[in-house]
Amino acid sequence: MAIHVTQNGRLFHLHTADSTYQMYADEKDVLLHTYYGKRIEEENLSDLIYRADVGFSGNPPEAGGDRRYSLDCLPQELPSSGVGDFRSDCIRLRHQDGSAAADFRYEGYEILPGSYRVPGMPALYDGEEEQGETLVISMRETASAVTVRLFYGVFEKENVITRTVRVENHGKSEVLLEECLSCCLDFQFGDYDLITFPGRHAMERNVERARVGHARLEASSIRGASSHQCNPAVILCAPEATEDFGDCYGLCLVYSGNFVASAQKDQREQTRVVMGINPFQFSFRLEEGEAFDAPQVILSYSDSGLTKLSRQYHRILQEHMCRGKYRKEKRPVLINNWEATYFNFDGDKLAKIAEKAAKLGIEMLVLDDGWFGKREDDNSGLGDWFVNEKKLGSSLKELGEKIHAMGMKFGLWFEPEMISEDSDLYRAHPDWALRIPGREPNRSRNQLVLDMSRQDVRDYLLKRLTDILSDAPIDYVKWDVNRNLCDIYSHVHGRSGEVYHRHMLGVYDLLERFCARFPDILLEGCSGGGGRFDAAMLYYSPQIWCSDNTDAINRLSIQYGTSFFYPVSMVGSHVSAAPNHQTGRVTSFMTRGHVALSGSFGYELDLNKVSEEEQALVKEQIGQFHQYYDLIHEGDYYRISPPGGRFCAWEFVDRQRAHALLTLVMTSAEGNPVPVHTTVKGLDANRQYRCSYDNSIKSGKSWMNGGLTLGKALKEYESLLITWEAVE
Ligand code: GLA
Repeated sequence: MAIHVTQNGRLFHLHTADSTYQMYADEKDVLLHTYYGKRIEEENLSDLIYRADVGFSGNPPEAGGDRRYSLDCLPQELPSSGVGDFRSDCIRLRHQDGSAAADFRYEGYEILPGSYRVPGMPALYDGEEEQGETLVISMRETASAVTVRLFYGVFEKENVITRTVRVENHGKSEVLLEECLSCCLDFQFGDYDLITFPGRHAMERNVERARVGHARLEASSIRGASSHQCNPAVILCAPEATEDFGDCYGLCLVYSGNFVASAQKDQREQTRVVMGINPFQFSFRLEEGEAFDAPQVILSYSDSGLTKLSRQYHRILQEHMCRGKYRKEKRPVLINNWEATYFNFDGDKLAKIAEKAAKLGIEMLVLDDGWFGKREDDNSGLGDWFVNEKKLGSSLKELGEKIHAMGMKFGLWFEPEMISEDSDLYRAHPDWALRIPGREPNRSRNQLVLDMSRQDVRDYLLKRLTDILSDAPIDYVKWDVNRNLCDIYSHVHGRSGEVYHRHMLGVYDLLERFCARFPDILLEGCSGGGGRFDAAMLYYSPQIWCSDNTDAINRLSIQYGTSFFYPVSMVGSHVSAAPNHQTGRVTSFMTRGHVALSGSFGYELDLNKVSEEEQALVKEQIGQFHQYYDLIHEGDYYRISPPGGRFCAWEFVDRQRAHALLTLVMTSAEGNPVPVHTTVKGLDANRQYRCSYDNSIKSGKSWMNGGLTLGKALKEYESLLITWEAVE
């Protein structure tokens, strides 16, 4: 049992293998957050809360004459708004009389076996062997008929606690829900850093670390997508925390739309972190009997640094979020024609790329943008999901069969959620696009966004996808989305405060129906590369194109930032041409391969245009892909040397600690160089290992403490794969 309730149903302990989360419903029925950290005994820590008469921090009615009891100072599970807690709140209500107060008190609890589902949204699910446990705490609003249920899921072995919130209106009059965040973590003591992952198109998930102070730190998106610009996952950690040391708390939102995560110290040096759907243009109307569900947040704690925290996320996402056949099954090595041809292809050109690829051991051809409707560039055609047979010179079925006859699988690109104004779909259904009547809409890549909150839109898309995928032999779909949302207005809902979220629920609904209809298709998510790279999307697509930037050196930073939360198996990563199309940089074919191998591996270039020598390298790389697949996809991941130094390195160690693989890339070169010395991690101290670099054999203890010095200087951008094998 991971969930224990003591003190007459008032003290709640959520235990995982190494952590405890504790809450206490106090004598005034305020649900206090008393502890989250290293695993402790079941003792009430609410006595650590220091109460004082704090000027200008008022007292709730239940405090009576006790001026030392203030919601403005107490650590809480559901900070409400408008009733005396002046810090970041989690829930805002607007009542029919226009007042905006929300004040929730503890009512009761129940413990449910297994993990919980969040209606209409992805959430962690139970494994066949391991099940989570769920604590549900009920709260009631003091002056209306609104109730809240807080859901806490515990995955004991994985050191994960999840949380979400369900708001229900049991009253006769409607209530507007103007904010509903998913979780709050209050820390009474200590200093913290907040690590966030900002970026931009083609430069996603940089790593930024800042001290939490009294000015609010915020990571957020109002783009209708989790976005390139900011990722819905943050880490709060001790200022001294490193990869291997210190307290770290992860918060990862299972949502792909607008989000906010913020951290701030209050007047009494307490730190509050909140996370959930961004309240920007958010206002949900709840009539009698209606409910709202917030997305799930995955919390995890590590007492020994960032590496352990990342591993906990890699495992939970890989085992309990990623679904379907390809969760475990080996992913095919693919070749995508986008950077090889862009829009300029025909059936013959594709067949030539496929023929060469098949000879070299590549297992799947992916036909990217441009095969449908009127789509010679990115200005038209989106929405018209009908095969352009003239361009292909055959039907899609014939093309697919041709590829299959070469022994390869066949994949296809779609961008279902978008519409071009120059399309038959738009001419027939202009009201299917998100746009505000009487206003010219903002265009991005010259396209508009379909209103995914509409059932008729989703039905049309599923029909088009189904027709195409049933008619041709297709094994894989790349599901792209190439702009962000604005001009928010739905011709069906009108109520703009609900559109962002209803749109997202519509996207999930379509993806769910798609996955149910085509369970054997490998789905790869994409949004101009990694613009929707989040835990929720992993529920549908086991891999996501990590970035439109395929430059091996830029990819070091992008894949490094991505690794803090997301497993390597989720990271779509390809070898492309040199000079690189995004940066103009030239790196060797070998280095491009070594970097791409740490992901869902593939190629994105015309192999008819690479030298014989490089073609031989393709064969070698595919050999390495097969050789190291299990180690890379299932092993433990270690960040060894972050990008930004002379070299960047990372390592995989299998769970038996018998094999390790280190990738090292030289990122700058100097004359008269000092030697490269790298750390080695994760081996068994007491076993002997042979290192492939120089065939020397030493104990795990020596490797891990002494490291490895490279005997030969490396050139700029040169890379190495180095293995350690246990020798008995
Ligand atoms: C996006 C994707 C690319 C490619 C193009 C096609 O930018 O990230 O990989 O599919 O769209 O238009």
